[in-house]
Amino acid sequence: MSTLVVTGAQWGDEGKGKVVDVLAADADMVVRFAGGNNAGHTLVVDGAKLVTHLVPSGCRYPGTACMLAAGMVIDPFVLREEVDTLRAHGLLQGDELAVALDAHVVMPYHRELDGLREEAEGRGRFAVGTTRRGIGPAYESKVGRRGVRIRDLFDPNALAARIEADLAVIEPERRALGAREPVDVPRLVDRLVEATAWLEPVACDVGGRVFDAVAAGRNVLFEGAQGALLDVDFGTYPYVTSSNTTAGGVCTGVGVGPGLLGEVWGITKAYTTRVGRGPFPTRAEPAAEQALRDAGGEYGATTGRPRDCGWLDLPALRYAARINGYTGLCITKVDVLAAVERPLVCTRYADGAEPGTTPLSQVRPVLEPIEGWDEPGLARAVAAAASLRDLPGPVRAYLDRIEAVVGVPVVLISTGADRAKTLRLRQPFQ
Ligand code: IMP
Repeated sequence: MSTLVVTGAQWGDEGKGKVVDVLAADADMVVRFAGGNNAGHTLVVDGAKLVTHLVPSGCRYPGTACMLAAGMVIDPFVLREEVDTLRAHGLLQGDELAVALDAHVVMPYHRELDGLREEAEGRGRFAVGTTRRGIGPAYESKVGRRGVRIRDLFDPNALAARIEADLAVIEPERRALGAREPVDVPRLVDRLVEATAWLEPVACDVGGRVFDAVAAGRNVLFEGAQGALLDVDFGTYPYVTSSNTTAGGVCTGVGVGPGLLGEVWGITKAYTTRVGRGPFPTRAEPAAEQALRDAGGEYGATTGRPRDCGWLDLPALRYAARINGYTGLCITKVDVLAAVERPLVCTRYADGAEPGTTPLSQVRPVLEPIEGWDEPGLARAVAAAASLRDLPGPVRAYLDRIEAVVGVPVVLISTGADRAKTLRLRQPFQ
């Protein structure tokens, strides 16, 4: 058995795209298990920049199977566009793409409602700062037992009935928030049928395919989306996404038992960023925040929003390690932190507060300078490092500190956007 789960350990945007891209080179199958097109990463294939939001990063490797599992919510119009583009580049051929019959569909009215709610702040509502991709409303329809699944798309009569059931709940809210016309169900059904005919041959029991692949000794990579602190149960609720982003989401999202999981790696930046609203204890003061944003190019891949930036929060990272069961840590953007003057790190919260007990909106981070960062040529040495030994002493000491506080070994270090700028300390698949 050789499986690897990779999840974000912060609030998303930890550089999962690059790390998964590197690790997927050794995978036979890459599986997304939660979320939808609220995620996004950029791949460079034959010099062309391709942004994927639904299809896992493994798609760049011909022969690697890409699975969209049942725990996802899938916007079929976005998926079609993405798959068309990838196929035009010679990717996702044959049976390399599979979509779970039981995954739920993000409807155009879910997306519309997401936006209407965000704009209705103040009228008895508060904005979360969502990506406005309809993710929350689609998951609400799912747990409300009125959602539309991928399998429903292939039976137009059943589809219309499912949509009517969903709209019986959604239509009053749409209208209250300013939508003028009711949803035209026959037209929507026609659009969906036309947009998803191609999907029927690739829709299947994804959990079964994953199980068989593992049983056959294949290397299977489970690719998380968003991050631990956006988990609907264990994140900074209510400023979270609507799915389980942590490793447990693999079991419920794919339909496989925990005994099937091997390594679980968490990805964290050497500092912290967040988009959308909600608490962020280690957010830097404005000048330092802008320095981090500039150095790290911290603008959202999905929405283009500037990210809030701050220092690494070790208590929060230790919490992420616990709720995911991390066996390894991948530290990204070490080069960016190396280029920043006088960085800080949060080693604990005042008064012994801990995430999980005290809401992050109430903790007071204890921030310390990272020692030795004024060493001349630090950023250059990080960028040039070909192995752990080449990293400057203060950087190695910082990584040791992270390991010690979090209690999980560092297994991969990213020192630049390029795939070659990756120091691998442990093989992902045994
Ligand atoms: P939603 O997932 O669009 O409902 O947004 C809920 C919260 O999760 C908002 O704060 C978003 O900014 C955040 N979020 C969702 N997806 C991502 C992601 O891929 N990276 C970072 N933040 C995300």
